[in-house]
Amino acid sequence: MIPVDVTVNRRRYREEVEARLLLSDFLRGQLGLTGTHVGCEHGVCGACTVLLDGVAVRSCLLLAVQVDGAEIVTVEGLVRSGQLTPLQEAFRRHHALQCGFCTPGILMAADDLLSRETAPTREEIVDMLSGQLCRCTGYTSIVDAIAEVAGA
Ligand code: FES
Ligand code: FES
Repeated sequence: MIPVDVTVNRRRYREEVEARLLLSDFLRGQLGLTGTHVGCEHGVCGACTVLLDGVAVRSCLLLAVQVDGAEIVTVEGLVRSGQLTPLQEAFRRHHALQCGFCTPGILMAADDLLSRETAPTREEIVDMLSGQLCRCTGYTSIVDAIAEVAGA
């Protein structure tokens, strides 16, 4: 077992992990943060997207030991003091989810985009979503929700 010291959603964890444990399985199985979803497990669908030191990454493509000393934010960490973020509120208003399986990953990827680009265009939003698979919505409502927050 290998020690991992990591901050997740502003809380510090000191855990012991198997060297081969995926970050997605660490978050879900060891820390109980099941908001991060696992779909393809090989970097295609984006359902497992989390922020690693502020940058959106696929947690199924990283090992837990690789995040030693890092700061992770999962979808559970977006809410502060019980309040949904403007992005989450916009998803609710625009009905930007149906089954919701893709939603945590898309929220994290969109959060990353909005942190880098204060006013992304609809084209930039669509481009970002090319890395996030949704089987239900047809994407229009998702683009509308993110565009509203971006003022696009
Ligand atoms: S589960 Fe990680 S990209 Fe699909
Ligand atoms: S809402 Fe079902 S996969 Fe996106």
